[in-house]
Amino acid sequence: MEDPFGHRISYLRVSITDRCNERCRYCMPEEEQTWFAKEDTLSYEELLRIVRVGAGLGIRKVRVTGGEPLVRPGVADFCAQLAEIPGIEDIGISTNGTLLAKEENGVPMAERLVKAGVRTANISLDSLDRATYQRTTSRDLLPRVIEGIDAAIAAGFQSIKLNCVLMKHQTERELPALIDFAAKRNVLLRFIELMPVSTQDVLSEDNFLPIATAKKLIEQTHGKLVPQPDFSTNGPALYHLVPATGQRIGFIGAMTNLHFCESCNKLRLTCDGKLRPCLGSYLEFDLRSVIRSGCDDAELAAFFRNVVARKPKEHDFRHNYQPNRRMIAIGG
Ligand code: 5AD
Ligand code: SF4
Repeated sequence: MEDPFGHRISYLRVSITDRCNERCRYCMPEEEQTWFAKEDTLSYEELLRIVRVGAGLGIRKVRVTGGEPLVRPGVADFCAQLAEIPGIEDIGISTNGTLLAKEENGVPMAERLVKAGVRTANISLDSLDRATYQRTTSRDLLPRVIEGIDAAIAAGFQSIKLNCVLMKHQTERELPALIDFAAKRNVLLRFIELMPVSTQDVLSEDNFLPIATAKKLIEQTHGKLVPQPDFSTNGPALYHLVPATGQRIGFIGAMTNLHFCESCNKLRLTCDGKLRPCLGSYLEFDLRSVIRSGCDDAELAAFFRNVVARKPKEHDFRHNYQPNRRMIAIGG
């Protein structure tokens, strides 16, 4: 599938729940808690059918997201079934890390996911200071997240990435500790610019920390960063080498990188069955009512193609974008 701007679409992000055991300020404000009813959320069978049709159209990579995907029962079995779909070559999961070390019949979740065929784990980590972590996520779960990261390393994912959302007056003082933590564990660390995908108050100018500033601060403690233009993880992150430690760190400049959307290859499926051609656009198309109306696979494929044909050239975040959906209900 190719959109009108020449983007080849091979990546589907699948949100399996809007529930989460944390309340990150930029994603799910505490005061605004409404969840989709269970019957409005797609079943695993429905999700698998949609991915199967997508795979027939060139989807090769699936990332399972939430909310927090690991709160939905049966997620490891679901991933194992995804892995069996012909054409699907790469499965990843995005998680807050709090449940990765949790055991079921003596087996940690991280190990169950790796056995199910999940290749990459992206784990949110905004702070290594317990009080700051608690303030950001409204939960005192930093020790569990660190256990989760270590469980993921022990489980043997092929790639582990730690994602830190940049927040002014907070992340500045966290940078050296986060970099050293990632270096010590030999995992990739990425910094993400705050995007307007939540309530407006968090997204004020006063909370926005641009990547350019973060880079300058990192260079003060870790030396001049060396761009790695040839290194990519199949997404919009730009990687740099930290000479002091030899590790790579990534920057996801959704707001300040004007080339951000040029290599976009993805679609998003929300847990209530809307297919979204872009995170930063109001466009969404109701796949749930189509799949529940008893359509055949050819109709589903036509639906996919139609959405790809409507994919915008780039996101709308720079144009005073007012979110129409909470991030938690889109899937990070
Ligand atoms: N801006 C940037 N990134 C966000 N995420 C969630 N909300 C935002 C936001 N407003 C990202 C976080 C989290 C992932 C699920 O989505 O990195 O790790
Ligand atoms: Fe939950 Fe992730 Fe949203 Fe935080 S960012 S509230 S961990 S879904």
